[in-house]
Amino acid sequence: MADMYTEKVKDHFYNPRNVGEIKDADGAGTVGNPVCGDIMTIFIKVKDDRIIDIKFQTYGCAAAIASSSITTEIVKGKTLDEAMMLTRDDVANELGGLPAIKMHCSNLATDALREAIKDYRKKKKK
Ligand code: FES
Repeated sequence: MADMYTEKVKDHFYNPRNVGEIKDADGAGTVGNPVCGDIMTIFIKVKDDRIIDIKFQTYGCAAAIASSSITTEIVKGKTLDEAMMLTRDDVANELGGLPAIKMHCSNLATDALREAIKDYRKKKKK
C-alpha cells in the first residue's frame, strides 16, 4: 500500500509542514470531500495581497495530508490571484504524482485554499 506513494509524498506525510491553526487568521476555508467524507480547513494570513502565513488541519488520508502540506509550501509568499489558480494537478505534479484513486484527495487542499481566499475577500469588502 505505502509503495504506491512517491518519496516526496511520504516525506510530506511523515513531516507535514504548516500543520495547525492560525487563531487570528484573515481567512479560513473548510471543505468536505464528497468522495470519502474527509474534511480540511485552511487558514491564511494576508499582507499586501500576498499569503504571508498558512496552516492546515485535516481529517484526511495520507494523500490529503501530503497534498495540503505541499500546497502550503507552494503558495506561501504568492499573491492571492496566483494561489487561486493552483490546481490539483499542480499539487500532484509537485509531489511526483499521486495514484489515480488518490487524486480526489488533492482536491481538498486546493478547494479549501480557494474558500479561505474567498473568505478573506468577503471580510475585506465589509
Ligand atoms: Fe479522503 Fe483521501 S481518502 S482525503
